[in-house]
Amino acid sequence: MRYRASALGSDGVRVTMESALTARDRVGVQDFVLLENFTSEAAFIENLRRRFRENLIYTYIGPVLVSVNPYRDLQIYSRQHMERYRGVSFYEVPPHLFAVADTVYRALRTERRDQAVMISGESGAGKTEATKRLLQFYAETCPAPERGGAVRDRLLQSNPVLEAFGNAKTLRNDNSSRFGKYMDVQFDFKGAPVGGHILSYLLEKSRVVHQNHGERNFHVFYQLLEGGEEEMLRRLGLERNPQSYLYLVKGQCAKVSSINDKSDWKVVRKALTVIDFTEDEIEDLLSIVASVLHLGNIHFAADEESNAQVTTENQLKYLTRLLGVEGSTLREALTHRKIIAKGEELLSPLNLEQAAYVRDALAKAVYSRTFTWLVRKINRSLASKDAESPSWRSTTVLGLLDIYGFEVFQHNRSASLPPVCLSSHLPCPGPHLPLPRVPDNAPSHLESCSVCLSPAPGSVYPLNYCGLFCFPHSFEQFCINYCNEKLQQLFIELTLKSEQEEYEAEGIAWEPVQYFNNKIICDLVEEKFKGIISILDEECLRPGEATDLTFLEKLEDTIKHHPHFLTHKLADQRTRKSLGRGEFRLLHYAGEVTYSVTGFLDKNNDLLFRNLKETMCSSENPIMSQCFDRSELSDKKRPETVATQFKMSLLQLVEILKSKEPAYVRCIKPNDAKQPGRFDEVLIRHQVKYLGLMENLRVRRAGFAYRRKYEAFLQRYKSLCPETWPTWKGRPQDGVAVLVRHLGYKPEEYKMGRTKIFIRFPKTLFATEDALEVRRQSLATKIQAAWRGFHWRQKFLRVKRSAICIQSWWRGTLGRRKAAKRKWAAQTIRRLIRGFILRHAPRCPENAFFLDHVRTSFLLNLRRHLPRNILDTSWPTPPPALHEASELLRELCMKNMVWKYCRSISPEWKQQLQQKAVASEIFKGKKDNYPQSVPRLFISTRLGADEISPKVLQALGSEPIQYAVPVVKYDRKGYKARSRQLLLTPNAVVIVEDAKVKQRIDYTNLTGISVSSLSDSLFVLHVQREDNKQKGDVVLQSDHVIETLTKTALSADRVNNININQGSITFAGGPGRDGIIDFTPGSELLITKAKNGHLAVVAPRLNSR
Ligand SMILES: Nc1ncnc2c1ncn2[C@@H]1O[C@H](COP(=O)(O)OP(=O)(O)OP(=O)(O)O)[C@@H](O)[C@H]1O
Ligand SMILES: [Mg+2]
Repeated sequence: MRYRASALGSDGVRVTMESALTARDRVGVQDFVLLENFTSEAAFIENLRRRFRENLIYTYIGPVLVSVNPYRDLQIYSRQHMERYRGVSFYEVPPHLFAVADTVYRALRTERRDQAVMISGESGAGKTEATKRLLQFYAETCPAPERGGAVRDRLLQSNPVLEAFGNAKTLRNDNSSRFGKYMDVQFDFKGAPVGGHILSYLLEKSRVVHQNHGERNFHVFYQLLEGGEEEMLRRLGLERNPQSYLYLVKGQCAKVSSINDKSDWKVVRKALTVIDFTEDEIEDLLSIVASVLHLGNIHFAADEESNAQVTTENQLKYLTRLLGVEGSTLREALTHRKIIAKGEELLSPLNLEQAAYVRDALAKAVYSRTFTWLVRKINRSLASKDAESPSWRSTTVLGLLDIYGFEVFQHNRSASLPPVCLSSHLPCPGPHLPLPRVPDNAPSHLESCSVCLSPAPGSVYPLNYCGLFCFPHSFEQFCINYCNEKLQQLFIELTLKSEQEEYEAEGIAWEPVQYFNNKIICDLVEEKFKGIISILDEECLRPGEATDLTFLEKLEDTIKHHPHFLTHKLADQRTRKSLGRGEFRLLHYAGEVTYSVTGFLDKNNDLLFRNLKETMCSSENPIMSQCFDRSELSDKKRPETVATQFKMSLLQLVEILKSKEPAYVRCIKPNDAKQPGRFDEVLIRHQVKYLGLMENLRVRRAGFAYRRKYEAFLQRYKSLCPETWPTWKGRPQDGVAVLVRHLGYKPEEYKMGRTKIFIRFPKTLFATEDALEVRRQSLATKIQAAWRGFHWRQKFLRVKRSAICIQSWWRGTLGRRKAAKRKWAAQTIRRLIRGFILRHAPRCPENAFFLDHVRTSFLLNLRRHLPRNILDTSWPTPPPALHEASELLRELCMKNMVWKYCRSISPEWKQQLQQKAVASEIFKGKKDNYPQSVPRLFISTRLGADEISPKVLQALGSEPIQYAVPVVKYDRKGYKARSRQLLLTPNAVVIVEDAKVKQRIDYTNLTGISVSSLSDSLFVLHVQREDNKQKGDVVLQSDHVIETLTKTALSADRVNNININQGSITFAGGPGRDGIIDFTPGSELLITKAKNGHLAVVAPRLNSR
């Protein structure tokens, strides 16, 4: 095929394909019709096993759902799961109970046809769980009705009540439904649940009086004892301990770990209120439950004539109170039988065995009739309150059938056990006899028997359970198997019918299917006159001594030639060994079952003695009086036998089911040990067989493995053909034709119907699926690439748009800011110009800004350019208006600097400055060499103490020397230069020659000091002429003339007495004789005695002046 070739084109493709196939190998196919080898039971079971291993408990056979009990919570029934399966096509999602639920519901709503979900399977396979999940699905997902929303709660709450009264722990299931149940849920035209109705079938009432080892009575007994309040138990005369009641001890397992009776009781009590039970009704109902327990404890003793007498008065007392009957009447009814002979009533006493039988019959009748009443009561509560409204006419009904399976085929399974298992069991002790013990030498397989879970030798023998595969079956099991036979017939009929209808609708030729039609067995059981039930009824009704054995003989007479019937007498030599004399065997469609005729007549008659009925009819318990109606007594017509009643109700059920669109859930139990993860192949093969699943598959696969609507098929596979991809414009049917041509389907591989394509072989579909898988990969890559490209382009465009947006916004902001700035600048300039023009005008709004600006600018500028120190004379030029202020500021600034400076200078420096200031005062601008002296610091003294002779110091005494400097003295006459020291003391100027004080001039005698204006360093100290001690004025020369004279003037306080002379200085050269010094500027210093007798001083010219 073309697509195959392309699928295998590259290694990458091969890997993808194979991995898809591996997955299919691992989890199997979701629909059995896709099994290549659909006739092989082994392939069927292998598919189940694979899926079960992966916790995939659901698989389809076309529209039929096969479910395997996982015995563990798989978390697959949550609200999310419900949502996942709502409104989707059946085949789009993995198989699930909710898919069935949703499909059924949608069909109900859209086609407005009644639907029925038939859930079948053996005990413990999960039927009741499935029913509950379905109800839960509808309760949670359907719209609430406009009125009477409580119906949803009632529907849900009817379950725990029915389970309490109708379910019990059995060896196979801790919550086994001991009755068949069919429940109708009514939906209004909007799809909301508005009502319901329940039909119950054949309650296993024998359980009330007897339970097999390891089993329990109905839950309600244990729940009441465990959970009932003290006060209530006291009223009912009950004790908490179940061991006190003979009807509860037979199974020897009142306590079960998986059951919590106490909490279940609470649920039941609450549920009873929800489903409209009044407190009185609850009390009456519980009185009946208690009375059954008390009945079980009624004991008899034989009197001298072997007639039974009640020995348990207390129990009798409780019974009369609880059932509201006369004590004496009840006592009599339990120990006597009323016979009407020739119009006369006779009381015949009962022996012990008969009394016990009567007691148990009463208990069973009371319980089973109460159960029937309970169902009726629930139905009244579920009945739509709106039945009269016009919308009621448009309601549709969804039926849920939870019916017992062939739980009686255990012996078939034991085929895998060693033959000893079947042959070496102990003889059956009968249902009411004490249990025998397993002898120590019992066959060893009993220890490990995987089916019957028998205990080791020495423990109590699990009577009935082993009985199931060792001993023939009873009347009830006969009824149940008949029911299953009927339902199987219906199942095959409906499946075949719907298949045929589909083929017809699609215009495809029907290909006959080989399947086993079990009509022959149904007829064997139910046919008028010749059927087993008819023969049984006849035997029950005929006068004379009819017994179970006469019934068997009748059977042998009537149907001896039937191929599905066998008895010991009719069997051949070999088969005869496996058949007892009181047994008959039916070849059911699912296998052979042997029945013991013991009890058939009795159970079929189900008669209560007349006086017992009369007693119960007089009951004051309202429920009992409804259960035992007086009309029963007057009705001369014999009531229908149990088998006939059952047959009728079954026929009625079949009619109900036929009138509805069916859906099927086939439940399978994976093992008998109720263990998760265990897949018992023998057990499963057996169920696959008796559930008729292979038959079902064969019918479904009649011709074609797969069919789909054209739209769905095209939608799924259109990518495999270039002409149909990505969209097909024409009719879907034409598209599919093009597609399959492109895929290379051979004509025998498929057929085109009116609305669907039919594919004959799974392999064709798988090949298409595989090709799709490969195609999906490449499509996914393309889509990914395109998506990535698109995604990144979108991202890029988004970023670009954002960038442009930000840019334009920013540019706008900048532009606006700039414009605002410009505007502001223009306004400012305009204001400045205007202000400038009017700057001389008095302050007005026009020039205020300018004036302020000028001022501010000046002040700001001034702040930045303040003089750095006192010598810095710079100062910004102020605007005219601030002239005065500027001057004040300048002054302030200067003062501030001076103040700061003054604060920072040392006393020595202060003195220096003071002296310099004095020097400046004296000489500045007056003497040529003054400028040179300015940068040179005045030294405190130019001669150290060591340079002055100690003798001089001694001569000065205490007078300190303030200043000393070497000088040159010029004689007054010859002007000879002599080296001397000039010392200043606080009182005088002292001229010293080496160690001798040559002259001392007290300051008081110092009249002045003369100095030339030139750059020479000569000076004359003028002394008072009258001072005799003095030789005259002193002519001296100092290299530091400015410093020496300043200090001398300061010491002698003669600052104002320094004369700076131009040209010449006259000095007193001695008494009556004056000397003259002439100063002339020249190129270099020259001091000579001039010819005129004057001292001539040539002072060099300096640039400073
Ligand atoms: N889908 C499921 N998921 C988990 N556990 C389940 C499921 N179905 C059944 N079970 C378990 O199996 C037990 C038996 O199931 P259920 O009572 O529904 O069996 P049944 O077919 O109604 O048997 P019977 O014929 O005896 O009434 C349940 O109590 C529950 O523990
Ligand atoms: Mg059940």
